[in-house]
Amino acid sequence: MTTKKRGPGPKKAQAIGLARGLTNYGDADFSLYMRRSFAKSMGYSPEMLARPVVGIAQTASGFNNCHRHFPELVEAVKRGVIAAGGLPLDFPTISLGEVFLAPTSMMFRNLMSMDVEEMIRAQPMDAVVLLGGCDKTVPAQLMGAASADVPAIQLVGGPMLPSSYKGERLGACTDCRRFWAKFRAKEVSAGEIAEIEGNLVTTAGSCAVMGTASTMAAIAEALGMTLPGTAAIPAVHADRLRAAEASGRAAVGLIASKIKPSQVITQRSVENALRVLLAIGGSTNGLIHLTAIAGRLGIAVSLARLNELSDTTPVLVDLKPTGQYYMSDLHAAGGIGAVLRELKPLLHLDCMTVSGDTMRERLAAESGWVDRSVVRGLAEPYQKQGGLAALFGTLAPNGAIIKRSAADPKLFEREGRAVVFESLDDLAARIDSPDLDVRADDFLVLQNAGPKSGYAMPEAGYLPIPTKLSRAGVKDMVRISDARMSGTAFGTVVLHVSPESAVGGPLALVRNGDRIRLSVSQRKLDLLVDEAELARRRGAHRPLTLQAERGYAKLYIKSVLQAEHGCDFDFLRKAL
Ligand code: FES
Repeated sequence: MTTKKRGPGPKKAQAIGLARGLTNYGDADFSLYMRRSFAKSMGYSPEMLARPVVGIAQTASGFNNCHRHFPELVEAVKRGVIAAGGLPLDFPTISLGEVFLAPTSMMFRNLMSMDVEEMIRAQPMDAVVLLGGCDKTVPAQLMGAASADVPAIQLVGGPMLPSSYKGERLGACTDCRRFWAKFRAKEVSAGEIAEIEGNLVTTAGSCAVMGTASTMAAIAEALGMTLPGTAAIPAVHADRLRAAEASGRAAVGLIASKIKPSQVITQRSVENALRVLLAIGGSTNGLIHLTAIAGRLGIAVSLARLNELSDTTPVLVDLKPTGQYYMSDLHAAGGIGAVLRELKPLLHLDCMTVSGDTMRERLAAESGWVDRSVVRGLAEPYQKQGGLAALFGTLAPNGAIIKRSAADPKLFEREGRAVVFESLDDLAARIDSPDLDVRADDFLVLQNAGPKSGYAMPEAGYLPIPTKLSRAGVKDMVRISDARMSGTAFGTVVLHVSPESAVGGPLALVRNGDRIRLSVSQRKLDLLVDEAELARRRGAHRPLTLQAERGYAKLYIKSVLQAEHGCDFDFLRKAL
C-alpha cells in the first residue's frame, strides 16, 4: 500500500455535491455519469442531484434508547436542507448507547470518531449535520468532523424529561445512583427499587441531569459548533424539531460561508468551552473529550491551565449532580445562552460559530431572560470556584481530576489509610465482605482501571461505599483510581490518575495501609511512602502487558493515550 498524501486534485477542489470525491474508475466523467445513474435509482430529479449535498450523520440504533427519536429529527433536518436549496443525504455511523456496551462505551469512542471522519471524507458532501446525543457520540462526531474538516454543524438529541415517583422528581441517572445506594444500605426495599426502575428513564433523549451527554452538548454550543440555544432543548419538545430544521438550513449556509471546524474550534473557543464546563459543574468526562477534540486540531488542553480557569470561573448552574435541578429546568431558565451571557466578561468573544456570527454577535442578539434560581449571576454564584480541579503529586505525576462541585468539602483536606483493590474483579469480590478491614476515614484505592488496563477506563471510579459502612450511615469517602466516573455521580472521587497503574504509574505501587494525602486547596495528591520503599516496590512490580490477539481491541491497546491526552489514539491526534 502506498502512503501517498490524501488530497483533492485541482478538478475535485472545484466540485460540489455529487461531483465531489469521485470513485476512481480512471475516467472522471464516467465516474460522475455512473454516480448520477445510480443516484437516480433513488428517485431524485436531475435538479435535486445538481444541488449541493448536506450529509446527515445519524446514529439511531435499537441499542441506543437515548436516540430513539432520531428518525423524526433526521426528517426535520432534511426539511431545513431542502428549504435552503441543498440535497440532504443521511448516512449511518456507529452508535454508542452508554449502557449497552461492554466493557465500556469509552473503548469505542475513537472507533466511532474514525467512522465519522472517514465517511465524511469518503462520501460526496459539501457540509454535514452531526446528529448525536448519548455520552460518547457527540465527542466522537466532533473529533471525526475536526479531523475531516468539512463544514459541519452539531445537532444534539436533547435531554430526557424527568419523571416522578411518590411526589419526588426522578431523572437518569443521578437518581439511579442515589436510590441504588439507598437500596444497598437497606433504606429502600426490593419492591420499591423495582418500581423506581420503571420511572428513571421515561422519555427519549440523553440523561436528564448535567451528566456527560449534557456536558458535551453544552461544550459543543460553547465551542460554537451548534446553533445558539440548542444544547438544552428537551428531546421531546417541539423546539428540538425546529432546532433540527434550522440546523439543516444552517448547514447549507455553511457551504456558502465555507466555515470549517478548524475555524470554529480554536485555542480560544476551547478556553470558552472549558469556562462553560467549569461553570455548569460539568462531567469529568467532558474534560477528556474536549481534550481529544482539541487534540485533533493540534490544540493542547493543559491541566495547569484548567486550574487557573477553575480558580476564576464560578459554578453558576444549580443542576444535579452538583445541585437540585434538571436539564429541562435549565432550558426553561434560559439554557446555555444564559450561562454564556453571565460568563461574558471571561470569554473570548471574537470566536466564530457555525451560525456565521461571532460569540459577541450571538450574545448581543439574545433577549437576556434568565431564571436566577437555576442559573446564578457571576456576582452571586452557586459555588465560588469551578467544578473541576486537577491534582498533581507523587501519586499522580501527570495529573488527576476531582469534581469538587459534586463532592463533600469536608473530605478535601485529608490524610488517610489506603484500602487497595487491585482490579475491578478484586473490588467486586471484596468490597462488601464483612471481613474487609475498612473505616469511614480510609481512602479506597482502585488500581488497573485506566485506558490500557483491559477494562478500557470504565466509569468505575465511583467505588461503592462498603456495605458495612453504608449501613452504618456513611455516605461519602475519598476514592482514588485511574478510572472515570459517570457525570451523573456525586462523591469525593479522584479520577484519571496518570500515569495509570497498568503502565506502571505510582498508583500501581500503593499497598494496603499506606498513607495518602489529599489537598484540593493545594491541588495535591501524594503517596506518603519513602522513595527507597517505592523503588523496591517498583523493582518488584510487573506492569500489565496486555495484548489483544486481533481486530479493534489490538489497535486500541496499542494506540490509546493517557487521560491528559484525551484517551485518543496516538495516530489520530494532530501534532501539537
Ligand atoms: Fe445516554 Fe445517559 S445513557 S445519555
